[in-house]
Amino acid sequence: MTSEPDFRRYLTGIDSPSTHQLFVDCVIVGAGIAGLRAAVELPENCSVIVLCKGFLADSNTWQAQGGIASALDKADTFESHIADTLKTGCGLSELSTVEMVVRQGPELVKQLLAWGTQFDMVNGRIATTLEGGHSHPRIAHAHGDETGRTIASVLIRKVREKTNVRVLENFFVIDLLTDKENNCIGIIGQDKRGLQIIWAENTILAAGGLGQLYRETTNPSIATGDGIAMAYRAGAVLQDLEFIQFHPTTLYIAGASRALITETLRGEGAVLLDSNGYRFMKEYDEAGELAPRDIVSRAILAHMLKTKSTHVYLDVRDFDKKHFAKRFPLISELCESFDIDVSSDLIPVRPSAHYMIGGLKTDSSAGTSIDSLYACGEVAATGLHGANRLGSNSLLEGLVFGKIAGRSVCEKLKENTHGRHPKISYKVPQSARTRLDAADVRNSLRALMWRNVGITRKAQPLKEAQDIIRFWQRYVMDKVFDSNQGWECQNMLTVSLLMARAALNRTESRGVHYRTDFPNIDDSNFKKHIEIKRTGI
Ligand code: FUM
Repeated sequence: MTSEPDFRRYLTGIDSPSTHQLFVDCVIVGAGIAGLRAAVELPENCSVIVLCKGFLADSNTWQAQGGIASALDKADTFESHIADTLKTGCGLSELSTVEMVVRQGPELVKQLLAWGTQFDMVNGRIATTLEGGHSHPRIAHAHGDETGRTIASVLIRKVREKTNVRVLENFFVIDLLTDKENNCIGIIGQDKRGLQIIWAENTILAAGGLGQLYRETTNPSIATGDGIAMAYRAGAVLQDLEFIQFHPTTLYIAGASRALITETLRGEGAVLLDSNGYRFMKEYDEAGELAPRDIVSRAILAHMLKTKSTHVYLDVRDFDKKHFAKRFPLISELCESFDIDVSSDLIPVRPSAHYMIGGLKTDSSAGTSIDSLYACGEVAATGLHGANRLGSNSLLEGLVFGKIAGRSVCEKLKENTHGRHPKISYKVPQSARTRLDAADVRNSLRALMWRNVGITRKAQPLKEAQDIIRFWQRYVMDKVFDSNQGWECQNMLTVSLLMARAALNRTESRGVHYRTDFPNIDDSNFKKHIEIKRTGI
């Protein structure tokens, strides 16, 4: 287990008696599929607050296109889904987790259907399609490529129907609160009313991902790694932070956000071409466009270098135009908005940061190393994905572990309640050094991470990234901010440093982590997780 030097325990000063306080049985940080599913699971006699950094629609779940992977098709089997997940995970997936998630999948997806999710259907059954690394069509989708928002809308409705659950939007969680024995006792955060403490018998962290640490990302602007950073400050054991997945195909148009162009397009026949119209993928992998994401992302990168291009193209010209518009409404609209006629034009794409595989180490009950703190969804490292994530396994993981986290909290509440609301007095002296442009630090960090801790890595750039981040930390981490932008900047620096360090320590290539100076897998030294915990806890 490695550790990084201590900075402050909390990002803000705390004087609990003079701070506005709320008391609940469970506070849920995050409102993607995992947080919402956990909230649905909690019974009416359990008081719950769900905290949302932005609005309910600002989540990676909301933006998910391709779908949710599950062995729903009659010809598919659990064994096949398990084997594909293990193969893609490159030796680091936990077999028991994979089996549990895969086996619970169909029942929970059908439950979503019963709750009103309008999955696309064929002959009265949920339709499934293909993505890279899956040996069977098992990606369920809803309203074409609007899967994420369709599922999230149903879960939001279910949560809204519950009288025991309050949802607070535009609430920034600054830190997890812990007592002297390092039990989690709630959170401190800020909304338009000012600082708030929520004392909670149990806390479920479902705060999502961190794509914004990179200059190029599919993730919404809220995905700044806050959950991992606050868990690190609280002393939770983190793992697998070197494993960040890059999605091969995001729209590459100057001025446009790097919007996701779903992998299911390739699953249904779209091909990748270079600027000469050459279909290059078979040069890199015999599975071509349907190789796992890490392989396709690296192939695109290598081919861009070879052809001195800034991007490649996705060719969907063979799709029937009407079918395309119905099957991929989001992408149709996106392309139209940039004047790309998909029946005659190619879509410019390149890889960008997409999904954090690592996070808080959790067990089969979504428990973390801190008592009364649970984690689920992207912020958690459950062991399902290993060193690489199979497309559309993440919505499945969020669904299954969201339910498990909710269930674990129910069980815990039956056993005992801790009722801990100690006086917390934490003073941070305001640093007089330098005025700071947090937005500038953030942009520089994103560029650094893209360059030095990106799709391919090697020792020198990783060391340089650490040196630069440590230098920035010297004058950013001593500040006391009072708004999201500053806290996000501090969180981004914290998590980036941990990621660069884990990537430097893993001197091999495995899954999404590719070291050009150590291009081979090294099972004798690295068939294990890299765990990180803050010192001094
Ligand atoms: O390509 C996609 O639609 C992305 C799916 C995923 O990240 O699971």
